[in-house]
Amino acid sequence: MENPIVYCYTATGNSYAVAKAISHQIRAELLPITHQIPETRKPSAIGFVFPTFFMGLPGIVEEFVRKISIDGNPYLFGITTSGPMPGDSLGHLNRILLEKGKSLHYSSQVRSVANYIAEYNVRLDKTASIIESSKEKTNQIAQDIVARKTVRTKGKEGIPSHIFHKLYIKNYPIQDQYFTVSDTCIGCGLCKKVCLADNIEIQEKKPMFHGKCENCMACIHWCPTKAIQWKTHTQKRNRYHHPDVSAKELAAFKLLHIIDKQL
Ligand SMILES: Cc1cc2nc3c(=O)[nH]c(=O)nc-3n(C[C@H](O)[C@H](O)[C@H](O)COP(=O)(O)O)c2cc1C
Ligand code: SF4
Ligand code: SF4
Repeated sequence: MENPIVYCYTATGNSYAVAKAISHQIRAELLPITHQIPETRKPSAIGFVFPTFFMGLPGIVEEFVRKISIDGNPYLFGITTSGPMPGDSLGHLNRILLEKGKSLHYSSQVRSVANYIAEYNVRLDKTASIIESSKEKTNQIAQDIVARKTVRTKGKEGIPSHIFHKLYIKNYPIQDQYFTVSDTCIGCGLCKKVCLADNIEIQEKKPMFHGKCENCMACIHWCPTKAIQWKTHTQKRNRYHHPDVSAKELAAFKLLHIIDKQL
């Protein structure tokens, strides 16, 4: 039986910070969730750590969980980071696992800084206290997982979350048609490096978007010159990323799926 594996999707580092802390405590390998599906492995535990998107799973996470093979009976856990409305993202994850004949042994939510700047401004005055309590919660979760506890956090199940999620998610991929890139772009390519959905190419020193966007906002938040905007909504809004996570670390994290394929 191999060591545990934690799969993580992240844009601004909230989920990555949680996944990293848990992986460290349970001695798991931490790998990114991308469109590349990893080879079948036989870990003793598998975790999925991801942000809530519209009260459900990001599309790329849903695709990943549907396609990944889960052999045997590993301990399965799901952790979502979200703003104040996690909805039923953990129930959503469990329903997909049930279709594969599996189910979560443990799930929990970590209240984190809400980062969806296409819709609202990020409250930078609140980040320190939210991050402080998210670290405490993460610690507790890691201890639960070490003890292989079987507790599932109940989300707001039922039709409203489900409908809300379905309504929004179908328009995700083409949301990138509303991105604009200003002359402040310095062609550094960071937006491409942090886009786990691989939706960005740099052409003539500017990002080009390819219509398979997750709407995750990573490119907007991490751009060092605030060159990327979504419609006009984001012009005056704050950029945010988790203070313990750097762009360099996330760029290196994204590349791990390639290394994992070669093992
Ligand atoms: C497209 C999108 C949809 C979101 N929907 C929700 C939501 O329904 N409820 C909520 O509480 N937070 C929502 N958020 C906020 C994120 O879940 C939250 O900021 C998360 O911690 C981001 O994690 P990350 O830094 O790992 O990307 C949304 C963010 C994005 C980008
Ligand atoms: S991160 Fe910003 S500055 Fe760098 S290439 Fe992308 S848009 Fe241009
Ligand atoms: S293009 Fe930007 S918003 Fe879309 S998936 Fe990539 S990083 Fe996220």
